[in-house]
Amino acid sequence: MLGCGVVGQGVLRTIATRRESLARRLGAPIEVRRVVARDPDKERGEHAPRELLSFDPETVLGDPEIDVVVEVMGGLDPAGAHVVRAIEAGKSVVTANKFLLAERGSELFELAEARGVDLAFEAAVCGGIPVIRVLREALVSDNVVALRGIVNGTSNYILSRMYDEKIDFSVALRGAQDAGYAEADPTLDVNGGDALHKLTILASLAFGTRVLPSQIHQEGIEHVAAIDMQMAARFGYVIKLLAIARALPNGALDLRVHPALVPDDSVIASISGALNAIYIEGESLGPLMISGYGAGSMPTAMSVVSDIVDVGRNLMMGSRGRVTHRSLAAREVRDPGH
Ligand code: HSE
Repeated sequence: MLGCGVVGQGVLRTIATRRESLARRLGAPIEVRRVVARDPDKERGEHAPRELLSFDPETVLGDPEIDVVVEVMGGLDPAGAHVVRAIEAGKSVVTANKFLLAERGSELFELAEARGVDLAFEAAVCGGIPVIRVLREALVSDNVVALRGIVNGTSNYILSRMYDEKIDFSVALRGAQDAGYAEADPTLDVNGGDALHKLTILASLAFGTRVLPSQIHQEGIEHVAAIDMQMAARFGYVIKLLAIARALPNGALDLRVHPALVPDDSVIASISGALNAIYIEGESLGPLMISGYGAGSMPTAMSVVSDIVDVGRNLMMGSRGRVTHRSLAAREVRDPGH
């Protein structure tokens, strides 16, 4: 495993406390061989004993006995270089890194496909909510026409506390950081960047097309003030940071992330705290909504470990099947400045 922060520690805890049931379900035990941390001397709890820790990524990437690399360090560099190295070395990768996939997903999926390994990423979008599986597997035969939702737990937590408790933005942000919801650099949470990365991945899967982060309109919650919340409430609305992707009548996509007024008696208004919700509209299925914890150590770790089991099953059967972005054609996107 590369990285041992909030999510990484949750992964170790999940593997340690569910060792037997995981082994039963996978058909083999999961052995954590090595954990690479920035500062291996920092205390990381009972599930990360000193002898497991290293500061040298080569102890993972250069070990021929390691089959699966779990990347939970986040950020573009050096995570991107490590993922490339792992794939080139014939290892399957499980990642929670939405930034990396939004920026370099196509290249990494092509590389994984060429090398015949899996690149699994359920934890990269909306923590514990299995939205990647829903889009990739359950809805693979449908034609998605719209997708929208709350996909950043930190900003939803901040907006909820500002609305419910009338507390300041900065106090609410500290609460999200203390609870382990925020990114290492919370700028991406509050400026809409994290939601944009997730929408890049979701829209690519939903519409079977290649979406670039630069094609999405981005506006965060950093300018939402207490007075905005009060005025919204007076008129029967709450303010939510929404990520929206929809097919326009001419076939182009409309992609945006921005704060929006939502009627206070709507389902989406009731999604509070670190909860996320994604509403998907399929041509055949009609409406579908999934909601749950989109941030936090254990829900996100659950998605990572489920991916490890999936990838492990593929390894044991000598197959694979988690590479999704296969040579996708680009599709017209409405000018994000529109
Ligand atoms: N910082 C992210 C959020 C974590 O608040 O939603 C989950 O991706």
